[in-house]
Amino acid sequence: MNIPVEFTDSLRQALRKRGFSFNGVASGSFALSPELHIETPANVNAELGLTYPLRIGAFTHLNGGFIQNVTIGRYCSFARDVKIGHGFHPMNWLSVSPLQYNPSYRNWPCASGLPPMTDITRFQWEKHTIIGSDVWLGNGVFVQDGVTIGDGAIVGSSAVVTRDVAPYAVVVGCPARQIRMRFPDIIVERLLRLKWWRYLMSDFGQLDFSDIHQALERIESLLSTGKIKEYQPEIIDASIIKQEWALLASPERRRRCAFKPVIKALFKCF
Ligand SMILES: CC(C)(COP(=O)(O)OP(=O)(O)OC[C@H]1O[C@@H](n2cnc3c(N)ncnc32)[C@H](O)[C@@H]1OP(=O)(O)O)[C@@H](O)C(=O)NCCC(=O)NCCS
Repeated sequence: MNIPVEFTDSLRQALRKRGFSFNGVASGSFALSPELHIETPANVNAELGLTYPLRIGAFTHLNGGFIQNVTIGRYCSFARDVKIGHGFHPMNWLSVSPLQYNPSYRNWPCASGLPPMTDITRFQWEKHTIIGSDVWLGNGVFVQDGVTIGDGAIVGSSAVVTRDVAPYAVVVGCPARQIRMRFPDIIVERLLRLKWWRYLMSDFGQLDFSDIHQALERIESLLSTGKIKEYQPEIIDASIIKQEWALLASPERRRRCAFKPVIKALFKCF
């Protein structure tokens, strides 16, 4: 059953305590997707579409924009105004209007009497976008639905990503084109073999992050001794959010209901 969830200050506070800091807007929050999977800690200042599959990896920071129907890896940094998962409209039907497949669209009266929505016509959300770990998206990046951006990639500000981006590639422009790789192939291969983002950075100990050769050597040797274990984060999913909301909702609603008659009475006076 779908419980209506409202992202009030108290719900945000409760989620923050569990490691999910969410300061953005929740779009479509009345029907949380069962495929909502947020590893903690994660920090989201963006507007999130929560009715479609959404996965965010631990230590990822989203700083604005609109994001939905996407899987994002760990240790990613997204700048302001990033847009992912906007969906699309039919292009070779009679019309581009969603009225053709969604009779309740905007509650417009002309929608009644139209054929009901079917699974076949929910086509526009099929293209799930995948973004790897350690990815940096610059200001104002637009990512087209269904694209895969590989681990370690960098996307320059204002780029429009229409094709898959290779791991550790740096791409810019509209449409985005590769200008270089972050590292030589041999280093990229080692990084992709290691997948260091499975671990807590602090487990790497005293490590010079700015020296890629030394850093790789140290992590490789740590892993070969089996001294560090993969990070197992707490997960925030739809059931946790609903649980927290259910705990908070009743007293909050009671407080709001208590104020309603006072406000109504005040209006009547004028
Ligand atoms: C992608 C980026 C990291 C590339 O940096 P870089 O490797 O130092 O690139 P350079 O400045 O050497 O530029 C290389 C080429 O790409 C072009 N280029 C760089 N950034 C570009 C961009 N955002 N859009 C279009 N072209 C760009 C340069 O004009 C240059 O082209 P040229 O070779 O024809 O002269 C950087 O340009 C960028 O966009 N950073 C994001 C900034 C941001 O959004 N910060 C928010 C903080 S989270």
